[in-house]
Amino acid sequence: MKKQWWHDKVAYQIYPKSFYDTNGDGIGDLRGVISKLDYLKDLGIDIIWLSPIYPSPFADQGYDISDYYNIDPRFGTMHDLEELIAEAKKRNISILLDLVVNHCSDEHEWFQKALKNPTGEYGRYFYIREGKDGKEPSNIRSYFGGSAWEQIGDTNLYYLHLFHKKQPDLNWENPVVRKEIYDMINWWLEKGIAGFRIDAIMNIKKALPFHDYEADREDGLADCRAMLNENDGVMEFLKEMRDSTFRRYHAFTVGEVFNEKKGDLSEFIGEDGCFSSIFDFSQTVFGASEKGWYDNQPVTPDDYRQCCFNSQKRAEGIGFLSNIIENHDEPRGVSRYIPEGECSDEAKKMLATLYFLLQGIPFIYQGQEIGMENVPFDSIDQYDDVSTLEEYRVAQLNGLTNEQALEAVRRYSRDNARVPFQWDSSENAGFTKGTPWLLVSPDYPANNLKRQFTDPDSVFHYYKKLIALRKSEEYKDTFIYGQFIPAYTDEERVMAYYRIGEDQRILIIGNFKMAEQEIKLEQPYRKVLLHNYETVSGNGTSLLLKGYEVVVLEL
Ligand code: NOJ
Repeated sequence: MKKQWWHDKVAYQIYPKSFYDTNGDGIGDLRGVISKLDYLKDLGIDIIWLSPIYPSPFADQGYDISDYYNIDPRFGTMHDLEELIAEAKKRNISILLDLVVNHCSDEHEWFQKALKNPTGEYGRYFYIREGKDGKEPSNIRSYFGGSAWEQIGDTNLYYLHLFHKKQPDLNWENPVVRKEIYDMINWWLEKGIAGFRIDAIMNIKKALPFHDYEADREDGLADCRAMLNENDGVMEFLKEMRDSTFRRYHAFTVGEVFNEKKGDLSEFIGEDGCFSSIFDFSQTVFGASEKGWYDNQPVTPDDYRQCCFNSQKRAEGIGFLSNIIENHDEPRGVSRYIPEGECSDEAKKMLATLYFLLQGIPFIYQGQEIGMENVPFDSIDQYDDVSTLEEYRVAQLNGLTNEQALEAVRRYSRDNARVPFQWDSSENAGFTKGTPWLLVSPDYPANNLKRQFTDPDSVFHYYKKLIALRKSEEYKDTFIYGQFIPAYTDEERVMAYYRIGEDQRILIIGNFKMAEQEIKLEQPYRKVLLHNYETVSGNGTSLLLKGYEVVVLEL
């Protein structure tokens, strides 16, 4: 595999609104990010992905952009961003912005002009169609619920929004729109950012002409994915975008790609792929029900292992996936993948180790490094996220009581990960001196960075060691380029794999349960590289793993 500058990097996602507030308005800001750069450097971070910081009405927390060339004043100024890029560069940290170009905001001037003249120049920036027999042009459902078509005033015209109605989809079939997008991307790359995380990108190609699909719920609508599965030709757009922008700057790009078609991975992340990497979402989509969150199946430890291993095999010899246990759209990984009642510091460290040493680019989502957990929201009124409110409604509609519906959204709500970062035990977890825009998790007095900083056995210090190991001169080639081979797959609730380098054989093994587990080693080990308990028990040829023990061994 041809080496790339980003292969050995460790990335960190910042959700700016909830990271650190320096001006007391209850909303995190860019100066807050600047002030924490030394912290991130010390942790071992090389790449920061910032969720959207552009002007936005915040119908979908910044994923509804009303001006691609500016900074929302709640986050700061363009000068702050330039300073952030420069200060990060001094510390050898690269900045990625979020590229949200499947849709913009209905408050973007393009859409405002389109509304004035739907059949004119700017109307062609969007998908605007005539209604059918007084109804929407087709029966697709948006991701956030309800029809994906919104009527324009009292005309017979509708515009398409696969997400919220305040997020009209941009018409990628129009070359003028594509040119606008590429110019904007290049403008940011010229500013010195290292690349982008690319939002919802599989949605840019629609199956045209729009038509109805078989309804999949009682509302008579069909999931918009039915339409997306039918389309062809997204790759032409993606390659054109790559050649017009990223490639010229050696940018790092990571796509939010769900369900690419079988065999297409090399087109996405192979040597001539359209992106550098795409996220591996196999565990986050596992068990997801078409009916809604209330019907999702939990991911067991063995399911989790299978998802990771399938993805590793799928990407083998092709390219680098980006590995996560959570992000701003998911509940906390430790609350999701560690079975209920079993979440401990040991278990958190084990999960961290198991995903982090897979092949690919490890991404850490803010707060993950201190083991932040899901939040015990008491009432639906405490949630902000649009999809949470919709899923609550769907659960009620399907006969769940309010308490059951709340229980379902508590498990899966995106707000679990969006609550403020827990810096210390002062008021509001040290996140803001004002009123935080979203509830602060009540566990912050016990779980916060300051506390973990002083405890050498904390999850935070473990993450530091894990990052340092992955980047160590001695082992990094094996962790980055070494072969991945699953191990002990017959053992229930054990997740283990080898990473094999030129003259190194490393075993990563985790006991994904409370009970002890004996493991016979294929060969004696030479060295313990990392470990989440004080001692490793065993006799050189076998290991006696305690509950949620993880060991990284050089054989
Ligand atoms: C994916 C983003 O991560 C999510 O937060 C957002 O709601 C949708 N795309 C729409 O932009």
